[in-house]
Amino acid sequence: MAHPSLPKRVKIVEVGPRDGLQNEASIPTHAKVALINQLSNSGLTHIEVGSFVSPKWVPQMADSDEVFKQITRNPDVIYAALTPNITGFEAAMRAQADQVAVFASCSESFSQKNINCSIQESLERFKPVIEKASQQGIAVRGYLSCIIDCPYEGKIQPEQVASIAQQLISMGCYEVSLGDTIGTGTPLKVAQMLNAVMRQIDQSKLAVHFHNTWGQALANIYQALQMGVNVIDSSVAGLGGCPYAKGASGNVATEDVLYLCEGLGIDTGVDLRKVALSGWRVTQYLNRSPNSNVALALQDHIKR
Ligand code: HMG
Ligand code: MG
Repeated sequence: MAHPSLPKRVKIVEVGPRDGLQNEASIPTHAKVALINQLSNSGLTHIEVGSFVSPKWVPQMADSDEVFKQITRNPDVIYAALTPNITGFEAAMRAQADQVAVFASCSESFSQKNINCSIQESLERFKPVIEKASQQGIAVRGYLSCIIDCPYEGKIQPEQVASIAQQLISMGCYEVSLGDTIGTGTPLKVAQMLNAVMRQIDQSKLAVHFHNTWGQALANIYQALQMGVNVIDSSVAGLGGCPYAKGASGNVATEDVLYLCEGLGIDTGVDLRKVALSGWRVTQYLNRSPNSNVALALQDHIKR
């Protein structure tokens, strides 16, 4: 049984095929497809398959339409795509993405580096995406980067996070995923940020997205769980980083989050061993082991 102050059930949003692989050496399309097919049979219900962004900016995601075409879809899984503008949204619809996500930043410099426009301009670009998506019955998730620190501007004020998160929700995003892009957050900073955000947005509309650069992601997740957040983004094998946040490492590993949740008596509906096995397989293409303590600890117990 889960501790009374913690959620009983948590949804894991698997971002490895997108957030992970966008910042790794390119791997063949068939390896991405195999990874997503394996993850689809692990109990995960939301997988970010790829992104429809400029291939000049992120060449690793240039085959996202092919990946969508080739995967075997499990009807219990939402297959989502990142879309920065209407061009990306239309491509995602041609690829039959079930859901899309728009992405904004709390810092002007990161917004410019990541999507070549100001925060306000990015919100303007999202309006037609959200409008068209709503007409087509497609739900839109919102991401917010640099919720603790920006790699160019330093500390971000919690009120700034709350204000942009609130705008994303008012525009029609069903949820905002709060991204600690460079992984500098610690539980106290996360609590201060979440307190500010929760004054404006119900916790049921929030997700957390921690990169593990400074090794704080699990502690930060524990903090967020205690504050009622029950959607967690993570990346199988701790894949990736962000191409426009130098030095940022991958998201917290899905395997590590699943082990934490199991230990806390929180139901995720996801089979840890199946996820770990898919992580061992995909990292063979990257010539390294998974970036996950749990996957390493499990290696003798799972068939490779
Ligand atoms: P831009 O150069 O300002 O765009 O880039 P533009 O509108 O001036 O168009 C320039 C060219 O790009 C044109 O082509 C467009 O057609 C094309 P050309 O005429 O030169 O041949 N173009 C596109 N092509 C494909 N798909 C599109 C698209 N839009 C325009 N959607 C743009 C603006 C947003 C496109 C660019 O900056 C970009 O692609 N950025 C993507 C950056 C990115 O993917 N970053 C990583 C994801 S965010 C992240 O990882 C953070 C997150 O995980 C949360 C966290 O951890 O914080 C979500
Ligand atoms: Mg990220």
